[in-house]
Amino acid sequence: MIKPKSKIIATGSYTPDKIYTNEYFEKIVDTSDEWIRTRTGMKERHIIGEGQNTSDLSAQAARNALDEANLSPQDVDMILVATVSGDVGFPATACFVQEKLGAYNAIAFDISAACSGFIYGLDLADAYISSGRAKYVLVIGAEALSRITDYSDRNTCVLFGDGAGAAVLAPAEDDHGILATLLQTDGRLNHLLYVPGLGTKNPPSHESVDQGLHTIRMEGREVFKHAVKAMGDAAVQVIKKAEWSGKDVDWLIPHQANLRIIDATAKRANVAQERVFINIHKYGNTSAASIPIALDEARKQGKIKDGHNVVFVAFGAGFTWAAAAIKM
Ligand code: UT7
Repeated sequence: MIKPKSKIIATGSYTPDKIYTNEYFEKIVDTSDEWIRTRTGMKERHIIGEGQNTSDLSAQAARNALDEANLSPQDVDMILVATVSGDVGFPATACFVQEKLGAYNAIAFDISAACSGFIYGLDLADAYISSGRAKYVLVIGAEALSRITDYSDRNTCVLFGDGAGAAVLAPAEDDHGILATLLQTDGRLNHLLYVPGLGTKNPPSHESVDQGLHTIRMEGREVFKHAVKAMGDAAVQVIKKAEWSGKDVDWLIPHQANLRIIDATAKRANVAQERVFINIHKYGNTSAASIPIALDEARKQGKIKDGHNVVFVAFGAGFTWAAAAIKM
């Protein structure tokens, strides 16, 4: 039997109030509610408010998680924020979160692994806790993708939403906790999903803004094919690593990028449809935030209970992909 070293002791999430419905997109680009629903499963996405930043979403999700854990911000040793849409070029969004929480005993930095970032963060937190270098770690997935979306491009604009989710990790005391993780990267495929600007390659200029280089570019159909294969493979492998079969999984929480990818992943992993947590219709694709928001919802709705076997699986830009098997 695998002995876990760390476990998730609490979760929190926060999504902004403003909502873009499919009908909103019918007014601004050549699309339809029917196309969006049948091709993606999406109906609504939450959009960050004026004056709000990714660190605000993160801090609110983190406060909710710390409240549940009965911890004060001073107890936190490490804050990891998985994001590709941080507040500023630098410093890390995690530093703003540390300030907003007043968690001054924590080291804080960001993880840039796109939609897989939350699972990359869990793995890092597990390593720090396992080695005794941290006791309480806040892992946050947070995005404000609406700020880097081209709202004249129907191929991408209907897909993305904003929000944040957080988990508090602590040392495992029994057989509950992270049993297995799996992280993978293939940098050769970076050109299929990326933001060309905002960095050293195409520094901001009047021209770069006119060309929309600060917004998301995606070869949707190609990304789709890779996502289906990678998420299916990763789910199968992590279930095996945890010494489970698909039938042992109480809840599969996949990254919410497309309902058809989610269905294919569940089928491949041999997890029944009713054991898959889906909230894509409410939030769209929130990248690194999608799994922790779904996890928090599933727990707060009483679906995920103590002792349940839960699998996370994600795929995103890089390409990066990852999975985790956790006894809650
Ligand atoms: O989160 C990180 C990873 N990201 C993903 O996993 C996303 C993966 N990709 C996808 O989810 C899907 O590829 C999309 C939802 C982005 C697109 O669905 P698709 O079934 O792959 O459509 P497509 O790109 O092959 O396009 C089919 C048609 C095209 O028209 P033509 O060329 O056949 O005339 C598109 O122009 O659908 C058209 N189209 C749209 N039509 C109405 C693309 N976007 C839209 C739209 N409304 N919003």
